[in-house]
Amino acid sequence: MKIEFPKDFWWGAATSGPQSEGRFNKQHANVFDHWYEIEPEAFYDQVGPDTASNFYNSYKQDIAMMKEIGLNSFRTSIQWSRLIDDLEEGTVNEDAVRFYNAVIDECLAQGIRPVMNLLHFDLPVELQEKHGGWESKHVVELFAKFASQCFHLFGDRVTDWFTFNEPLVIVDGAYLYQFHYPNIVDGKKAVQVAYNITLASAKAIAAYREINTNPDGRIGIVLNLTPSYPATNSPEDLAAAHFANLWMNDLFLGASTKGQFPQELVSILEKDGVLWESTDDEMRLIETNTIDVLGVNFYHPNRVKQPSISSNSLAVDWMPTKYFDDYEMPGRRMNVDKGWEIYPKALHDIALNIRDNYDNIPWFVSENGMGVSREERYLNEEGVIEDDYRIQFIQEHLYWVAKGIEEGSNCFGYHLWTPIDCWSWKNAYRNRYGFISNNIHTQVKTIKKSGHWFKKVAEENQFDM
Ligand code: BG6
Repeated sequence: MKIEFPKDFWWGAATSGPQSEGRFNKQHANVFDHWYEIEPEAFYDQVGPDTASNFYNSYKQDIAMMKEIGLNSFRTSIQWSRLIDDLEEGTVNEDAVRFYNAVIDECLAQGIRPVMNLLHFDLPVELQEKHGGWESKHVVELFAKFASQCFHLFGDRVTDWFTFNEPLVIVDGAYLYQFHYPNIVDGKKAVQVAYNITLASAKAIAAYREINTNPDGRIGIVLNLTPSYPATNSPEDLAAAHFANLWMNDLFLGASTKGQFPQELVSILEKDGVLWESTDDEMRLIETNTIDVLGVNFYHPNRVKQPSISSNSLAVDWMPTKYFDDYEMPGRRMNVDKGWEIYPKALHDIALNIRDNYDNIPWFVSENGMGVSREERYLNEEGVIEDDYRIQFIQEHLYWVAKGIEEGSNCFGYHLWTPIDCWSWKNAYRNRYGFISNNIHTQVKTIKKSGHWFKKVAEENQFDM
């Protein structure tokens, strides 16, 4: 069976500044740099963000390798903690400007579209400690300042901008489930942070619309969408899945595409006494500064059932899990190394949801990938990792993307996480995701079988399955 894609489809891969560059020559520590400094044992093998994939020094060779495997687009992020010298004033660091200019120019010289994101979990820690991070509307203003600098400096050549990567993960990780610094558990703060990030994104979009003069320029947000499926068709499980979808998907989708938070969710949060504090002016700003384009990160679906504990026992603090429990569906197909379910058809459900409920906004798969440990198990005699499991994973996901497009979905690209194995937050280098392997001791980088396979797909704009 031939799986074909529209002309000019983006064949790319994604990383982020903090996960690839390394800490060289950085002005400030971000929240993860800081967390590693104070608690290295919280990180897999105690490997921290200093040991990223050395992109700061080897960006030329890395981009050349991306070219070699046929990528026509590459998403990374500009680090706030590198670009800005004075976080309050928003003054820029000239070395950082030179670095990001060089990266952008090198991508363009190699025929690779640079896709730039502004915040990939990496808030400068000073803003967390001094102002309470995303709990603070002052930090929202500072983010808009940083974003404006990026648009002024690089907007002549970068046409595709994204404000945030996975805002829900900041809310979940930093304010509910303790996997992002500052590891607070506070439902009310979590809800305020969700709102403040939405506001920060809208403010950055407003700034972009004022500053941008590039006729091809557009701006969006990257959301991790996790369709939530009920364990059974009982009314209780259906209600659980309905709430999970409202919280995990519709909250940021609604606010960023329509400028409106889902009314049903707002009513629930209000009834539970945790609704965010907002002003009419802010709400107007969110309403009038919606995105042009959407990035969708998809790794795994979410299976839920009705919550087993009574909501009263949670009265001390609010948690979204007041309304649903995770459900381990018997027989589900798993990526055992990572512990995530593999369910490629969810991408088709996402495509149709965007088509039918979110104005069929142009979107692309901004991350999708399979993290596997100890990949040296699959080295062949030529020293190439034979990652057939990754090829199969990508094929199956692309199959459902193509089917969505055939049915009218406006999807224009696919980015694998990640081009070159990179450092990954608490998991450090436990799971490898790249088309290209990276020996973290020698920094030798080698194209995997999937990279060679992807080159052909990108060249032919199709593959056989
Ligand atoms: C995505 C993030 O959600 O997951 C990336 O945007 C992250 O930053 C990726 O690296 C994989 O996560 P992990 O923890 O499995 O390496």
